[in-house]
Amino acid sequence: MKARFAGRVALVTGASSGIGLATARQLAREGAKVVNLDVRPPAEEERDAEILTVLGDVREHTDCQRAVAVAVAEGGRLDLLFCNAGVFEGGTVESQTLEAWDQQVDVMLKGTFLSCKAAVPALRASGGGSIVLSGSNCSHIGCSGRFAYTAVKAAMPVLAKQLSNDYYHSAGIRANCVSPGYVETEMTTEIWRNQSGSGADELPPENVVSRWQRAESIASVVTFLMSDEAADVTGVTVPVSRTALLRVAGMRLGG
Ligand SMILES: NC(=O)c1ccc[n+]([C@@H]2O[C@H](COP(=O)([O-])OP(=O)(O)OC[C@H]3O[C@@H](n4cnc5c(N)ncnc54)[C@H](O)[C@@H]3O)[C@@H](O)[C@H]2O)c1
Repeated sequence: MKARFAGRVALVTGASSGIGLATARQLAREGAKVVNLDVRPPAEEERDAEILTVLGDVREHTDCQRAVAVAVAEGGRLDLLFCNAGVFEGGTVESQTLEAWDQQVDVMLKGTFLSCKAAVPALRASGGGSIVLSGSNCSHIGCSGRFAYTAVKAAMPVLAKQLSNDYYHSAGIRANCVSPGYVETEMTTEIWRNQSGSGADELPPENVVSRWQRAESIASVVTFLMSDEAADVTGVTVPVSRTALLRVAGMRLGG
């Protein structure tokens, strides 16, 4: 059977760890050439010869353009973009600092804007492609103690629709959003350690399944949305969550 992404070229932002790394690996394993744009390289033990890392910041348009140029130079085209780079700092509207607001808005909202801005011309030149944005449970219900994070993630489902409106018919570019629940990554391990003083061994009691999700299970949905199997899927958001969304709304994780 032909590999799903044979001949395809992908750019994944924030693929030096977590969900981005798991997605980059799945894409590479299934035949894609993959470029990672991240502010830091993957840890030594996580390095993968199949994934080319460009050190740069999604908040900088020139860094996003450079990553796209590397992808096109490596593979002759660009087909896939996962806007995944992210940071987290909790806080209510009272306790959230302006710096933390700016950082989260800049990395995840401006970063998504600039990644798409840099990639769309190359996707159009390839005859179309697929963009996936990174949402969250917080996109849909809000989450306690995450004012800036929720503001940013709430934008992602509608931005996937907006990109579809602007580019599906005109350029054959599909755009969708994935909303993970609680995935065990560096980001959440840090949040939960700060919150509880414990490790990431157990979820808060509100979680009905009491098990962290694996980055690979989010990556499977992202790669599905990127694949030809999802050729008729655009402008939608797929929640990938083991948590009961309404119960998560009452959680105070990271707050
Ligand atoms: N882990 C979860 O439970 C969860 C849930 C919902 C959504 N998400 C989202 O998934 C995405 C990935 O998060 P993760 O959990 O894998 O975290 P992670 O910390 O493992 O990965 C985030 C990556 O983004 C990179 N990054 C940060 N700032 C950057 C910048 N300015 N430019 C380029 N790269 C940058 C980091 O270096 C890191 O490699 C984020 O957008 C996050 O909000 C995560």
